[in-house]
Order: sequence, then C-alpha cells, then structure tokens
Amino acid sequence: MNWDYLQPVKIIFGKGKVREIGKIAEELGCKKGLLITGPFFIKSGQAEKMIKESKGLLKAAYGDISPNPDVEEVDRCAKMIREEGIDFIVALGGGSSMDAAKAAATIALTEDSIRKYHGTGEKVPQEHLPLIAIPTTAGTGSEVTCVSVLTDRKNKKKSPIVSDGFYPDVAIIDPELTYTMPPQVTAGTGIDVLSHAIEGYWSKGHQPICDALAIHAADLVFQYLYKAYKNPTDEEAREKMCEASVIAGLAFTLPKTTSSHACSFPLTNLHHIPHGEACGLTLDYFARINKDADGGRVLELAKKLGFEDVDAMADAIHDLKASMGLRNDLKDLHLNEEQIAELVKISRHPNLYNNPVEITDEMLLEMYEKLC
Ligand SMILES: NC(=O)c1ccc[n+]([C@@H]2O[C@H](COP(=O)([O-])OP(=O)(O)OC[C@H]3O[C@@H](n4cnc5c(N)ncnc54)[C@H](O)[C@@H]3O)[C@@H](O)[C@H]2O)c1
Ligand SMILES: [Zn+2]
Repeated sequence: MNWDYLQPVKIIFGKGKVREIGKIAEELGCKKGLLITGPFFIKSGQAEKMIKESKGLLKAAYGDISPNPDVEEVDRCAKMIREEGIDFIVALGGGSSMDAAKAAATIALTEDSIRKYHGTGEKVPQEHLPLIAIPTTAGTGSEVTCVSVLTDRKNKKKSPIVSDGFYPDVAIIDPELTYTMPPQVTAGTGIDVLSHAIEGYWSKGHQPICDALAIHAADLVFQYLYKAYKNPTDEEAREKMCEASVIAGLAFTLPKTTSSHACSFPLTNLHHIPHGEACGLTLDYFARINKDADGGRVLELAKKLGFEDVDAMADAIHDLKASMGLRNDLKDLHLNEEQIAELVKISRHPNLYNNPVEITDEMLLEMYEKLC
C-alpha cells in the first residue's frame, strides 16, 4: 500500500489561547488584519475583544457571514479586503466563517468572483493572504482542512472547493470559545465530527495515519459528546470535543468524506437541515451498508471502538442522535415522490464515489423511502 501524508497547519490548542492573537499575528509578520465572523460574535463582544487584544494588528471586522455561506458573501468580503488593503485574515466561527474566510483570502488577490471556481472544476490559484482560523464549534475541522464549502443560493448549489491554498497558516483551538454553543448546535456539529472520523476511516482513500486519527476522534465523540450536550459548561467534555474535532479534521482531509456527506448536501440545500445533523442522518444507515466492505475494515473499526460488531456501532450512533433530539428520519418533511427523486439525483455527488461500497441510485431511493 502506498500513501502520502501532509499537514501544513500550525495547531495551537488550549484554554485561553485566543487571547494570544496579537503575538500569533505578529509572528506571521503581518500588519493590517481583518476579522471575518458571523453576527453572534459581533453581538457577544468577542470580535471587539479580539481586536483590542491584537496589539493593533486587527483593524476591522466583517461580521455578516451566514450559516452555509453564500458565494456572494465571499465576493463582498474579498472586495472589502482589496479596498482596505488588508494583509492577513483571522476567521472566527464555525465552518461557515472559516470556509468563507479561506475563499475570500484567496479571491481577494484576484479580480475573480469565487463563482468561477464553485463546482466548476476550475483550479483555484494557490496564492492567498495569511489566514489564522479559530473554530467556535466542534465541528467541521475546517481549521486544518484545504476545503471551503460554499453555497450558491441563486443557482441552488452547495459544493466544496478543494485547494492547497485553503490550508490556514495557523489554527487556534480554544475550547472556551465553544462554551456558548446552544445544545442543538453542540449536538449537530458533534455528529459532524463523528461523520468525519468514520467516513475518513472507511473512505476508499484511507491510509494508516488518518486511520489512527479517526479511531481516536470517534472514540472521544462516543465518550464526550452527550456530556457536552447535556452540560454546556462541562469543561472536560468541551475540551475533549475540540480535540476530537481537530483530529477528525486531520483524519478526513486526505481520504475525503463519502456517502453521508454526499447525501447531506441536498438535505441542507433543499430542506435546510444543518450540516452536521444532515451528515449524521444517514451515518448509521451507511455503516450497515458498508458492514462487510474492504476486507472487514468497518468491523475492525467497530471493534476498536469497543463495539461487538458494526450493527452495535450503528445502533449506538442512532441512539446518540435520538438522545440529543437529532433526526433519525425525514418523516416530518412529508416529501412526495418527486422530492425524493430529487434527493436521489443531488446525492450523486463526487464524495459518493469514495464510499467503499458502490452506491447505486436504487440503493439511494430505497434509503430515502425508508427515511421518509
Ligand atoms: N471546510 C471543511 O472542511 C468543512 C467540513 C465540514 C463542514 N463544512 C461546512 O461548514 C459549515 C457548517 O459549520 P458549523 O457546523 O461549524 O456551523 P456554522 O458555522 O454554520 O454555525 C452554526 C450556527 O452556530 C452559531 N455558532 C457557532 N459557534 C457558536 C458559539 N460558540 N456560540 C454560539 N453560537 C455559535 C453560528 O452563529 C451559526 O448560527 C457548513 O457549510 C458545512 O458544509 C466545512
Ligand atoms: Zn462535515
């Protein structure tokens, strides 16, 4: 078996580390930074606090990034970067703010709209402004990935863009920033972590380093997600979920995600189910489909996580979702045949081809009919 491993992001992990933003930015040798975030952190005062703690290096905040950020938000942000002569970016937020910032940090150095690269296969230029990514969910792992997932609402399209230029220069993971996540966000983003770990493991692109990371991350989610959901100020649970999130990010970046992420795109786009919840929705279903795949690798994963077999692991995923009020079906959406056919069609996303078992349209139809 041949494989490569690369991880270019400097990772700084620990409670209170975000307060070192000034020193960290200084080390990058930059002078005029823009903080890119969502409205929650403007209202909470966290954005202003970081600007004050930045030794004068952060000059302003762009605080309009929405969940599942739109390509037009990226273009607006890039325009501001160009107009203000910004020379580095700090992204504060969940995957949405980090992904928008990654794309803006690249596009700002061109005259292009990000639309040119969104789902078109056009190669993104490598050059980008230095980027410090600071996650506030646990989460997408976007702080260590080369992926930016963007939505084009006008053209009803959600698609990841992959570019080596999207790796942040530094990731600051400060568990304290996650304490304010509401329980439903904790639950959904936490199931996203589990999907990254498990899908990274069973992906056709698996490799030994990412396998080890995936097992570690999935094990932490099974131990700590429910605790973090139940008690948002459980410091140990929050810290362990942040550890799981960044490690799962490393576990899936190179192997890539598979079937559950492929199916999540239409569920989020058409039916507004948050990303993590949409991925988790089909995770136990695909675990059962993949049960015997690839010489028993999925069984091996289940056993390493302390389950008797793959069905026991799938049951645990199902029960964990149920215990946190996450969906295990789509019945409340009352979808008709046409809408189910649309789900099948849009689930045929490139990630589907990383699944260790070939997923046919008939299999997708059977799954969605059971879920609906
Ligand atoms: N780049 C990648 O590698 C990657 C991987 C997986 C998913 N994604 C993408 O990331 C996006 C989802 O990101 P996410 O799940 O982190 O959620 P998010 O960034 O969309 O945030 C969800 C909601 O939670 C709020 N929030 C975030 N942190 C908070 C905190 N600490 N306190 C209070 N509120 C908080 C946000 O304001 C928002 O309303 C999707 O677009 C998804 O497709 C990217
Ligand atoms: Zn995800």
